[in-house]
Amino acid sequence: MKEKQFNTRAVHAGERADFTNVNSVVTPIFPSVGYTFADSNELDAVLGGEQPGYVYSPRYANPTVAAFETAVANLESAAAALALPSGMAAIHLALLGAGVRAGSHVVVAADVYGATYSLVQGIFTELGATVHLVDVLDLDGIEAILAREKVAALLVETISNPLMKVADLPRLAELAHKHGALLLVDNTFCSPYLCNPIEFGADMVIHSATKFIGGHGDVMTGIIATSAELKAEMVRLNKLLGSSLGPFEAWLAHRGLKTLPLRMRQQCQNALEIATWLQGHPQISQVHYAFLPDHPQFDLMHRLSGGKGGGAVLSFEVLGAGRAEIFALMDALQLIQPATSLGDIYSLMLYPAISSHRSLTTEERHNLGIGDGLLRLSAGIEDFADIQADLAQALAVLD
Ligand SMILES: Cc1ncc(COP(=O)(O)O)c(C=O)c1O
Repeated sequence: MKEKQFNTRAVHAGERADFTNVNSVVTPIFPSVGYTFADSNELDAVLGGEQPGYVYSPRYANPTVAAFETAVANLESAAAALALPSGMAAIHLALLGAGVRAGSHVVVAADVYGATYSLVQGIFTELGATVHLVDVLDLDGIEAILAREKVAALLVETISNPLMKVADLPRLAELAHKHGALLLVDNTFCSPYLCNPIEFGADMVIHSATKFIGGHGDVMTGIIATSAELKAEMVRLNKLLGSSLGPFEAWLAHRGLKTLPLRMRQQCQNALEIATWLQGHPQISQVHYAFLPDHPQFDLMHRLSGGKGGGAVLSFEVLGAGRAEIFALMDALQLIQPATSLGDIYSLMLYPAISSHRSLTTEERHNLGIGDGLLRLSAGIEDFADIQADLAQALAVLD
């Protein structure tokens, strides 16, 4: 390099060192788009898929992203995983990977996350797919559609957002497979710590890794855990769609993932304590939380989570409250952050009517049971007493 001119040395000096003996404990961030090979035959073999390797990153594959994918696949009991830049990108690709096209039928739980609802009802319907919205608890109704139509995919959330209905994954997998459909499960609310849907028969497990997997509210990602075959098909599609997660985001999400069990244990415990306290509060008319003994799917939640917990998210109805009262309550919060996410180490409060379910009409929201007095709380890892005190003083504003 010494004999080259200054401009050339500025560009190439220090690059492409031999890292063979650098045994770093943590996977490095590989930002390189291109990769070099011993010769053109090797490049040709990697491009042709006959030899593993990286050629064009991250749209084809990237080593830092691959480390994150391997970790999530492992925690989800899946053969493989594919990371994407957001949970919505993951849901979109999962539907395409399941073969949803013009003329296809898809069955979707009606009370999925608002953007998922709008993606299937809006974009996929406009593109020519037929979307059947169902109550995830109505197994007979779901089976009737699966038996009547040639359904490509059944899409549900393990715990629904924001009403905390729990999907009977073993039964849904059985029904989907009996009728030749794939079961796609958005497992965001459980995270791989509480439930591994593949063990109950799911074909694809989707996460907004922006939530519990990343865990710190500082990175947006999505990931799909699935079989090697389905991943290969989605990689093929995604090379053309270009919805690729960058190595910096993958590295952050992977770092967050390492403390998932510690965070989830504390968050589930906080959520249960908050839900129990709110149930006895005179200003609260209803609490939705899957680990409360009177929740209709309490036993199912125990089975799916191996008794580990009902998740960190709960929702509750403030007695007689409308938009003005909910705004006053949200504005009074001092510790709990009124921010549009969930699953972070911070406790977060969200008003579904103006955020997660904003894209629905008032009528659609009310039909789903998402009223104007419903709030969603994602418990963080703070001390329960401090979260409780903040909620108590915010509710007191309405007295
Ligand atoms: C259950 C669920 N799935 C998917 C998404 C979308 O994820 P992202 O915001 O990472 O695109 C969200 C976002 O809130 C969600 O709550």
